[in-house]
Amino acid sequence: MKILAIETSCDETAIALLEADRGLDSIGVLGNTVASQADLHAQFGGVYPALAKREHAKNIVPVLLDTLKQAGFDINVEQNNLNSFSLEQKNYLKKLFEHEPELYQIFIEHIPTITKNSKSSIDSIAVTTGPGLEPALWVGINFAKALNYVWGVPIIPVNHMEGHILSPLLNLNSSSNKKAQLPALALLISGGHTELVYVPEFGTYEKIGQTLDDAVGEAFDKVARLLGLPYPGGPHIAKLAGIDRSINPRASIDLPKPMINSGDLNFSFSGLKTAVLYMVQKLEEEAPNNTLPDTTKQNIARAFEDSVTEVLIKKVLKALDEIGGQNPIKTILVGGGVSANTFIKQGLINAVQKYDPNISVLFPTPDLSTDNAIMIGMVGILKSPLSPTGGEISANANWEL
Ligand code: KG4
Ligand code: ZN
Repeated sequence: MKILAIETSCDETAIALLEADRGLDSIGVLGNTVASQADLHAQFGGVYPALAKREHAKNIVPVLLDTLKQAGFDINVEQNNLNSFSLEQKNYLKKLFEHEPELYQIFIEHIPTITKNSKSSIDSIAVTTGPGLEPALWVGINFAKALNYVWGVPIIPVNHMEGHILSPLLNLNSSSNKKAQLPALALLISGGHTELVYVPEFGTYEKIGQTLDDAVGEAFDKVARLLGLPYPGGPHIAKLAGIDRSINPRASIDLPKPMINSGDLNFSFSGLKTAVLYMVQKLEEEAPNNTLPDTTKQNIARAFEDSVTEVLIKKVLKALDEIGGQNPIKTILVGGGVSANTFIKQGLINAVQKYDPNISVLFPTPDLSTDNAIMIGMVGILKSPLSPTGGEISANANWEL
């Protein structure tokens, strides 16, 4: 079975082609492309939805062609494309791409260059329909609908967060997946979400904790901005903080660890960001030329990462305590952009190892931590036997797991 996966929920335009014979157990990645818009959004210090939509519309066809070329598909550029679709087809597509007229043009020019033989081997199209930025989601959804119309391939709507849950399972260097014993606990830490999810089996999810305000990735991005680092800030904070805290131990900068003792499984990161803001303002006033020395910035980055890590560990261990009993958690699945953070990763692995060495903690490879289409295809593979296309597919910006 070959599945084409499309992801446009935020600021990455991503398409992958996966092959799977035995469900999630064996997955081959035949092609994978991610076009990031991060540099463009950097000037706004965050993702700007109208710009994200425009960029997706511009990039999605080239990203598809790139992915299919990697998979060995024939792209026949000699074809007289503009006349390949009938008037009826063109009218249908024009209506579909009513809000993305530039994509209509690129679509009718380039989609016919994918020759019949190769395209007929795609069995289904998985597309992220939420959660995410609504205008951005619609580009992927309308593109999937257009392919469904011209190729006759069914569409599987995918929840982006379910993709992040499955992302640690893929072993890109081998044809067989990492085995995750169930039940599992998922810790989702991304730019838009911070959630703890109980996973009795794949496809069944129960949210048991979440942030009450900012997501942890959002806090990384905002703190980075306060320190004068570019968007997205997570990797820059991580680099500045370094991993080895024994070298140049940080001066006694202490930041709050919000809700660490709240007694529940929820999070809050906006107070931490505000604490950094006040600290930066105070230290800038005291600094020569009102400019923070690099070592001070490094200390703040470390204190911030330390606080976040401690809170995440505390809540994960609390969840393990609470779910104990008859059927305790056997695996922790960590997903989302922040799971690329090495300090958080080491901290979580060590803490869980100490708590119970039999629990395995799985992280995605760095490529699969941040947004990508492979993880969306994995959800499609999980769902494909169950979900024939049916009903109207639309964006659901706030889709809960
Ligand atoms: O999952 P993702 O790519 O997009 C969303 O679905 O939100 O996550 C993006 C977030 C950004 O906030 C980014 O700063 C953060 O992940 N991030 C990191 C690291 N790499 C990316 N945060 C901390 N450390 C990192 N190494
Ligand atoms: Zn994401």
